[in-house]
Amino acid sequence: MSKLTFGKAKQEEIPELWTGKTTILDVLAPSSVDNGSRDYIVVDGIYHSYLYIAGYGYRTKNEAAWLSPLVEAGDNIGISFTFRKMPHDKILSRISQKTMLNRSRMREVDDTRQDFEELDSAISAGFYLKDGMNRDNQDFYYMSTVIEITADDAEDLERRVTDVMTLCSSMSMVAKRADYKHEQCFLSSLPTLSIDSDIERKARRNVLTDSLAASFPFSSFEIYDSDGIFLGLNKYNSSIAILDIFDSDKYSNANGCILGMSGAGKTFLMQSLALRLRMQGTQVFILAPIKGHEFADACYTVGGKYLRIAPSSKDCINIMEIRKKSLFTDYEIKTDTRDDSILAEKLQKLMIFFSLIKNDITQNELNLLDGAVIRTYNKFGITFENASLFDGKGNFKRMPTLKSLYEELLSKEETKPLALIIEKFAVGSLSAFGGETNVDLNNKYIVLDISEMTDHLKPLGMFMALDFVWDKAKESRIQKKVIFLDELWTLIGASSNRLAADYVLEIFKVIRGYGGAAFAATQDIGDFFSLDDGKYGKGVINNSRIKFILQLEEDEAFAVQKYMSLSDEETMQIIRNQRGEALLCANRNKVCIEIKASPLIYSILTTKRSDLEKRRKINGTV
Ligand SMILES: Nc1ncnc2c1ncn2[C@@H]1O[C@H](COP(=O)(O)OP(=O)(O)O)[C@@H](O)[C@H]1O
Ligand SMILES: [Mg+2]
Repeated sequence: MSKLTFGKAKQEEIPELWTGKTTILDVLAPSSVDNGSRDYIVVDGIYHSYLYIAGYGYRTKNEAAWLSPLVEAGDNIGISFTFRKMPHDKILSRISQKTMLNRSRMREVDDTRQDFEELDSAISAGFYLKDGMNRDNQDFYYMSTVIEITADDAEDLERRVTDVMTLCSSMSMVAKRADYKHEQCFLSSLPTLSIDSDIERKARRNVLTDSLAASFPFSSFEIYDSDGIFLGLNKYNSSIAILDIFDSDKYSNANGCILGMSGAGKTFLMQSLALRLRMQGTQVFILAPIKGHEFADACYTVGGKYLRIAPSSKDCINIMEIRKKSLFTDYEIKTDTRDDSILAEKLQKLMIFFSLIKNDITQNELNLLDGAVIRTYNKFGITFENASLFDGKGNFKRMPTLKSLYEELLSKEETKPLALIIEKFAVGSLSAFGGETNVDLNNKYIVLDISEMTDHLKPLGMFMALDFVWDKAKESRIQKKVIFLDELWTLIGASSNRLAADYVLEIFKVIRGYGGAAFAATQDIGDFFSLDDGKYGKGVINNSRIKFILQLEEDEAFAVQKYMSLSDEETMQIIRNQRGEALLCANRNKVCIEIKASPLIYSILTTKRSDLEKRRKINGTV
């Protein structure tokens, strides 16, 4: 309207107020303030009360981060510091004068008089300040501390104020109520550097640069990596914990492990990490040796691929397959293909595979198998030359399967007995594993469920799954990827197979070179550290820069303390941890974190019986 009536130029002359336009101040300012009480002001319905630390009310000797108990006292408590730097020369000459004056007065004062002590300490304070400023070239500041306490009602507020005053006096600090001055304190604690002069006068304390630095209230109990993923809240100070496992400046490798007793929240944490990494575009593999179904919902929700490796499954990964992409690992960075023989590498892996099928396999049998495998590949036209993997037209050749190997073994008298070893894969109960790969593996979220394999077949299933994952992981050195291994104790614990355990450890050692990370979760710490004197458990821990320790039983916590050199306090923290709480050790930083998930993610991940029951009711399938 105004534009039509007055034209553009005139419109600008109208005061902003008339136009009814909302200004930034309108948005920032509270809509109501009630300052009618001695004890508090009410801003937008929230009760605010203020304390200040009296100028004389500080301790004289303090260690670093001595104010952190106040900062970490909890929600609804805020602290604002104001520091005013004073001109060096003026202050120095004033201190000198004052100290001189005090010294001359001191001569007249009898040492039995009460103010003798006061004068004496004033003089030594003067010397201390002069010394710091002159010799160490420190600056002189006035510091004032105002504490803000908020609550929803007056009663709650009063309780909190008393708590904070008690806390302060336990730290030998004198906190005073800012009676009738709460409004001024409210304004003083806004980040506008405008402390009320009366409050400043009462709360003022002189400090030198050293002491100022020590009053920085945060010790390094923080994890906040700028490109990381959200983990939850820091329990010390409720700050947000964000971890970037791939920040190689901070963490020399991206591997991690999650320790905790059953039900402590390992799988929950693992899947939260996996989902958040996936959202950032990281390739995720999850290997589930038990309770694989726990991973299904999340996998389907993000459009992932869920593979069941089980005798009854239709999904098949051909253990003999050489994958085309393994040829090009370095292609992205060096633009040439690898020159070591891929078949030789495959042979090594197949030998582990045979040892897993037959625990007491002899060297002679392995030699015979070696020859048979090579002949089988030869039949498909594949030799130790990498070029032989392609046919004349540049197509990748078909791959032999365990069935082809079985036929080869049968065809020669001396290898016939060996055919028995793999018979069940070719024609028997495990023939699901003997065919060609029939699953599409190009997905950024792949879960490999081997939980249906019986105990003695588990290392085998694990090996097949890991072999595939490892191959995929090696396809690129640039694409970020994480391999998650749940319930790792089943794979490297006392009852498992050394070759399989070696293979896992190898992954932890080498994956960094392929731009990846391995993350393991385990319970049963005793078992985890038992095979070969704990070689594998220790190996995994030592190759993990990042460790989450959830709740543990006392004896397990003390075992972990030994392996990870935790302090007594940290060990007690682990024992006290509730479900979903973890001590995170990332490099030398140790932080206690409450792992958090959004309600949606929680509903997908939870396995609590009560939650499942609710879900069933909502779905209406009671
Ligand atoms: N951070 C968490 N926040 C909320 N609930 C959790 C959290 N961690 C675990 N839980 C609950 O505890 C249950 C058991 O956790 P889970 O991860 O399966 O334990 P674990 O794998 O250590 O045996 C989960 O299904 C979930 O309901
Ligand atoms: Mg679990």
